[in-house]
Amino acid sequence: MNESTKLFKEEVLNGLRNNPKTLSSKYFYDDEGSRIFQEIMDMPEYYLPAAESEIIQTHSEAIAKRINRSQLDIIELGAGDGRKMVHFVQVLSQHIPDLSYFPLDISSGILKANEKLIRQEVPSVNFSGYAGDYFKTLHRLRQRTNPRLIVFAGSNIGNFRGERAVDFLKFIKNEMKAGDFFILGVDLKKNPKKILPAYNDAQGITKRFNLNLLTRINRELEGNFELKSFDHYATYHPITGAAESFLISLKAQKVTIGNELIEFKKDEVIQTEISQKYDRALLDELAKSAGISLDSWYTDSEGLFAWVLFGV
Ligand code: AVJ
Repeated sequence: MNESTKLFKEEVLNGLRNNPKTLSSKYFYDDEGSRIFQEIMDMPEYYLPAAESEIIQTHSEAIAKRINRSQLDIIELGAGDGRKMVHFVQVLSQHIPDLSYFPLDISSGILKANEKLIRQEVPSVNFSGYAGDYFKTLHRLRQRTNPRLIVFAGSNIGNFRGERAVDFLKFIKNEMKAGDFFILGVDLKKNPKKILPAYNDAQGITKRFNLNLLTRINRELEGNFELKSFDHYATYHPITGAAESFLISLKAQKVTIGNELIEFKKDEVIQTEISQKYDRALLDELAKSAGISLDSWYTDSEGLFAWVLFGV
């Protein structure tokens, strides 16, 4: 068993020995999980990608003018295939003569696709992709002296619970010098009846996504979860803004992971994901706790999603 599998096993066992039981959503994204997430992004109920793309289409020009630099390194955390960002990079390249784009992602395969797209669509930009732990890479890229724009898009911050979101912002702030910028993509609080179906779709794609975590445990950690004995459950709380996903044990059952035994009561749940929704007040609070300053705020025409620009 390699180091990362050991860590995975340790976290899984710790989580399943908790009360309530938890599993971390960061483990959703094995090859199959990443494929199912692509399907989620194409679902009619999952409004997030279209809203964020609209923001990029509408506001890239204004963001470029606000940033107003002749040199810039764009460093994107969890960049994926770059399809969403290509327009943004293109617009910035028209304003910034010395522009670099450094996408960071855990998957080296997806960075290859990113590189191909960016080199084709914005050949003038200096490109380099970095696979692996993005906290380490971000730190290493500090050797460069250009002003930086760090980007964390796609509402990925939503997966951090409470204090963890503050810690993440503090980490980003530590990586910023005076004059650097940070863009955070966040999903906004809105009619709960629009949010809930995004995490509980009619076709059951999100259910498959959630259950895939058990399939991954079965395969990588020698588990024996019986998939048909677990169901997907999603909630959204309109006051706290937390969309949460769970797996429900449909019967009293024992599961083994390697040599370890985990017992489930009938109807016991495993907490698998939080997708926090924000509003201006919550963001102001987050920025204040992290000691970062909110510079400007851009939304789509329906006010579903926001790109928040921070400075230090
Ligand atoms: C990739 C974290 C933004 O929380 O909306 C989608 C993941 N989970 N459907 C989200 C997800 C269930 C997604 N993020």
